[in-house]
Amino acid sequence: MKGLILSGGKGTRLRPLTFTRAKQLIPIANKANLFYVVEDLAKAGVKDIGIVISPETGEEIKQAVGDGSRWGVHCTFIVQEQPLGLAHAVKTALPFLGDDEFVMYLGDNLLSGGISHLVEEYKRGGIDSTVLLVPVDNPSQFGVAVLNEQGQVVRLVEKPKDPPSNLALVGVYIFNHHIHEMIADLRPSWRGEYEITDAIQALITHNFRVTAHQVRGWWKDTGKPEDLLEANRLILSQITRSIQGHIEKSDVVGEVVVEKDAYIANSCIRGPVHIAGKVVIENSYIGPYTSIGTGTKIVHSEVEYSILLNESEVYNLPYRLDSSVVGQGVVVDGRGGGPRKHTLQLVLGDRSRVQL
Ligand code: TTP
Repeated sequence: MKGLILSGGKGTRLRPLTFTRAKQLIPIANKANLFYVVEDLAKAGVKDIGIVISPETGEEIKQAVGDGSRWGVHCTFIVQEQPLGLAHAVKTALPFLGDDEFVMYLGDNLLSGGISHLVEEYKRGGIDSTVLLVPVDNPSQFGVAVLNEQGQVVRLVEKPKDPPSNLALVGVYIFNHHIHEMIADLRPSWRGEYEITDAIQALITHNFRVTAHQVRGWWKDTGKPEDLLEANRLILSQITRSIQGHIEKSDVVGEVVVEKDAYIANSCIRGPVHIAGKVVIENSYIGPYTSIGTGTKIVHSEVEYSILLNESEVYNLPYRLDSSVVGQGVVVDGRGGGPRKHTLQLVLGDRSRVQL
């Protein structure tokens, strides 16, 4: 069985961060979202992996992933010239996929329970496709599945006004070669994309067997800044304390990772927090669910529930930085101390400059 990771797309909902980087490489607890996906596939025994990339961000993804040997897999990169939809990405990957069965995994999705159970069941045979479902409170915003008593999918509805169930499709699917026949006959949807839900509905209409699994643990799609922060919270909830950096006169409480060559002085760190190597934190407070990337410097400031990428600088903030995503090489200079009565919420692209 092969793997197909979709890592192209436009990423419009994550601007300005996606003006300069692939959204799948934005770090969650200091590790790219895409790397969690490759790991999930490797753990499920899927070693031959195609990665769909866009002409704009593809090179960055190639550089970051390499040949896959780090995870014991082999990665092939497939350029999708235009982001014409998930089914179009599969069509683009046809020369790589051939007639093989494959797991398709969206490169901006995260699952706590992995996909091994899904792959194992599929390999037992007799199924043409398996989809992964999660119960949601707002099914009208998702593709929704209707199941029969045997748990087989009998209907899919995209963003229904009157939802027939609360089971939303998650970005992991398993297909055999029949999906290509369905995709060949697809027409673009109202939003101009070739939809994978339409292709799966076509499988059902043609009496192919489509089964469903419910997500084990949690699932998150990191398409928007608030989703990145929530995914970061979920991953940080699972970390365990490990202090390798240098700590002076500071209070470091709970599940906190401080990597080698990080330096923390006269500060309070309240976990869960992930601090990468070469980070400097002085006279500051870092609150729960914060990740700080390599080489970032925080001085005389308070930061909580936020993601800071590499090599940024945060100085003398008069407000607490909260629920924020700060790109690489950003400078946020508060030019003053004083009581922090208010919070500041920022989503800043790479190399932004903010003066307060
Ligand atoms: P989406 O989040 O649905 O689309 P997008 O990346 O274009 O984002 P936005 O809606 O904010 O503009 O895509 C899900 C995943 O699939 C994501 O990793 C990008 C990838 N993808 C492709 O590889 N090719 C495509 O044609 C599309 C639409 C998405």
